[in-house]
Amino acid sequence: MRVCTTITEIRSALRRAQGSDLRLGFVPTMGALHEGHLSLVRAAKAACDAVVVSIFVNPTQFGPREDLAKYPRPFERDCGLLQKEGVDFLFAPSAEEMYPQGSVTWVEVEGLSEKLCGRSRPGHFRGVTTVVSKLFHIIQPSAAFFGQKDAAQCAIIRRMVRDQNFPVEMVVCPIVREPDGLAMSSRNAYLSPSERKSALVLYRALSEIQSCFEHSERSAARLIAAGKKVLAEEPGARLDYLEIVDPESLGSVPVIGGTALVAVAAFVGSTRLIDNILLGTD
Ligand code: PAJ
Repeated sequence: MRVCTTITEIRSALRRAQGSDLRLGFVPTMGALHEGHLSLVRAAKAACDAVVVSIFVNPTQFGPREDLAKYPRPFERDCGLLQKEGVDFLFAPSAEEMYPQGSVTWVEVEGLSEKLCGRSRPGHFRGVTTVVSKLFHIIQPSAAFFGQKDAAQCAIIRRMVRDQNFPVEMVVCPIVREPDGLAMSSRNAYLSPSERKSALVLYRALSEIQSCFEHSERSAARLIAAGKKVLAEEPGARLDYLEIVDPESLGSVPVIGGTALVAVAAFVGSTRLIDNILLGTD
C-alpha cells in the first residue's frame, strides 16, 4: 500500500489510474477504522481495479464545542487494517495540506445542509461537502463508497455530485452493526460500559418504529411517538432528533407512501450518536 501525505504525491501516484480505463474506487474516512469502514473498502475492492482510502479528520465539519481534538487517531493500526484489505493507496494529508492559509471557498448544498444533523450541528454539512469535493478533485475516482449509517450525508453528497457534475458514481453500502444492534461508529469508543448499554436505545427505538410500520401504521406522527416512548424509557440517553423524512430531499413525510428514512440522533453521556432505518423499501 502506498501512503501519500501530500496532494502532489497522491496525484503523481494516481496519474496512471486517472484518465485511463482503470476503475478507481475511493473510500473517504476520518480513520479510527472499524468493520463499517472496512465493508466500504471491500465493496470498493470488489467493484474497482484499484482502491484509494483517505484518512483525514476534517476540522471544518466539527463545531467549536465538538470533539475534533479528542477524535481517535490510531494511524498505525488503521494502516495495518487497510494493508490487510489490499488497499492500493492511502491518502492521509495534514490539515494544513488540505486547507492552506487563507482558504475561503466553500461548497454548500443549500436547503439540505440545514436538515437533520445540520440543524443541531450548524456548518457540519458545509464542512463535509467542501472536503469531499476537494477530495474528489484530488483523487478523481470513478466510484466513491459511502455508508448508509450517515444517510443525510449520502443524500447531500449525492446532490452535490449531481449539481456540480462530478463524474463519480456514488455507491451507498448498508449499515454494519454490532451483534446487539448498535451501529458501528468510531465514536462508540468514547462510551463507558454503562453508556454502551444505554446506547442500544437508538436501535430499540428504530426497531419499534419498524414493527409499528409492519403492523400497517403509516402516520409519521404516530410512528415518531412510538419511537420517542422507547427513548424516554432510557434515562442515559438525551434525544436530539427523531424524524421521518424523504431519503433524497430530507423533507418531512407526514404519511408514509413510498420509501421513508427514519433518522435518530441522541446524546449518551457527552457522546452524540446517530442511526437510521429505511421504511417501505420492498
Ligand atoms: P467517517 O465517520 O470516518 O465515515 C467514513 C465512511 O464510513 C462514511 O461513508 C460512513 O457512512 C461510513 N460508515 C461509518 N460507520 C458505518 C457503519 N456502521 N456501517 C457502514 N458504513 C459506515 O463520514 C465521514 O467519516 C466524513 O464525514 C467524511 C465523508 C470522510 C468526510 O470528512
